[in-house]
Amino acid sequence: MNKPVTLSGMRPTGPLHLGHLHGVLENWLQLQQKYQCFFFAADWHALTTHYEQPENIGQQTLDMVIDWLATGIDPKKTTIFVQSSIPAHAELHVLLSMITPLGWLERMPSYKEQKQKLHYKDLGTYGFLGYPLLQAADVLLYQAKYVPVGEDQQAHIELTREIARRFNFLYQQDLFQEPQALLTSHARFPGIDGQKMSKSYGNTISLREAPDSVQKKIKSMPTDPARVRRTDPGNPELCPVWALHRVYSEQKTRDWVTQGCTTAGIGCIQCKQPVIDQIIMRQQPIIAKVKELSADKAQVHKIIASGNAEASAIAEQTLTQAKAVFSLFANTSR
Ligand code: TRP
Ligand code: SF4
Repeated sequence: MNKPVTLSGMRPTGPLHLGHLHGVLENWLQLQQKYQCFFFAADWHALTTHYEQPENIGQQTLDMVIDWLATGIDPKKTTIFVQSSIPAHAELHVLLSMITPLGWLERMPSYKEQKQKLHYKDLGTYGFLGYPLLQAADVLLYQAKYVPVGEDQQAHIELTREIARRFNFLYQQDLFQEPQALLTSHARFPGIDGQKMSKSYGNTISLREAPDSVQKKIKSMPTDPARVRRTDPGNPELCPVWALHRVYSEQKTRDWVTQGCTTAGIGCIQCKQPVIDQIIMRQQPIIAKVKELSADKAQVHKIIASGNAEASAIAEQTLTQAKAVFSLFANTSR
């Protein structure tokens, strides 16, 4: 019984937040029931933008994996590994770089956008240009059929397909399988300012956020600007808190909000309380598990080591086949 291989990576650039939980991890939890999943920490990818502050990446990798496990990613079903522990990713990257036209990388929308957005960083590096190609190596090494990613990553999966085709065509092989993106739906989880929740907007609630801090953050959230006074009616559609009710509240509560908001029957503080309660309730078991795992880091290291070993075996197999077409010195008979 061979389940289709599904692979995705996440960059260890800081604490995970509710956007990761609802946008990514809940999706991974479903996928691990159906597919043979590989989820890995893309720490080399983190370096492409954080090469000037590399000192936290190891710790962040460990914390990120702890958060995955605490959320329910199950190492019995899923292979959890760390990119930089598998040198095959770097080796395949270098081989694929030989056949990758510069223009394919230069025209990536993420390349131009991120360079602009992160203008305060010098991203005129080879590593950053090659980011999507390293990602292609990540995917192709495992012959992944599905790659769950956000919309912003679609072009990278398309590039991966093109690279796979180009390799297979140039060397008359059918080694690489073309992957398919599985677009994550819930990707626009709202932050406490109503924009998409993202570390770069400073509007996050972390997975491990303490209850009183959750309370404070939600209470400070802006609401429909029309509700200046308690007696002014409002419109939930114009309120970022409503977006959270959509995620966290049952129909009954949502009806209560719509009714209460549009008639000024309830106040905004009142309206926010069920969201606060639900968030804290959702976090509670995760935080408990984080505590448990953090107290037993050896266990986490063991899980990662065994994931690395599983991943490495598969990656090395593919790499050996890819290398074979190049008849390098190692292939010459003695
Ligand atoms: N670029 C991805 C992101 O920022 C992370 C990533 C790295 C990835 N390698 C991958 C995702 C391979 C899927 C497959 O979200
Ligand atoms: Fe937003 Fe609720 Fe206030 Fe209406 S009552 S503006 S939905 S917080």
